[in-house]
Amino acid sequence: MKKVEAIIRPEQFPNLRSKLEEVGINGLTVSEVAGCGQQGGKQGVFRGTAYEIRLLPKVKVEMVVEEEHVDEICKIIQSTCSTNTVGDGKIFILPIENVIRIRTGETGNEAIL
Ligand SMILES: Nc1ncnc2c1ncn2[C@@H]1O[C@H](COP(=O)(O)OP(=O)(O)OP(=O)(O)O)[C@@H](O)[C@H]1O
Ligand SMILES: [Mg+2]
Repeated sequence: MKKVEAIIRPEQFPNLRSKLEEVGINGLTVSEVAGCGQQGGKQGVFRGTAYEIRLLPKVKVEMVVEEEHVDEICKIIQSTCSTNTVGDGKIFILPIENVIRIRTGETGNEAIL
């Protein structure tokens, strides 16, 4: 099992959500976050203007999925969340040790969906 953690532009989320539903991904956690990447939160560059580091609003989407679904999900994220400009976001993939559905005690892959 893996956790796919995507930091995306907030305005791309509705589109991503409906595409994920189409392929049967229903379990997810969404947070409003703030962050910056290699531009340090700068949205434009003007000669002679001093910038401070800024934090831009982003949405973090976390999905724990079976490993075999990771590639498909990453492709969906890329195709729905790319505007081909800086700040489109990033995907992090983390190992997951176990999942337990609290109600039933099911574990592992049975507890994911
Ligand atoms: N190394 C990182 N660790 C944790 N969060 C990150 C990291 N890089 C980016 N993020 C998060 O992702 C958001 C979007 O990052 P962003 O798309 O600007 O990445 P980037 O590396 O600057 O790429 P680009 O040049 O395409 O903008 C950031 O606001 C931040 O929340
Ligand atoms: Mg950036």
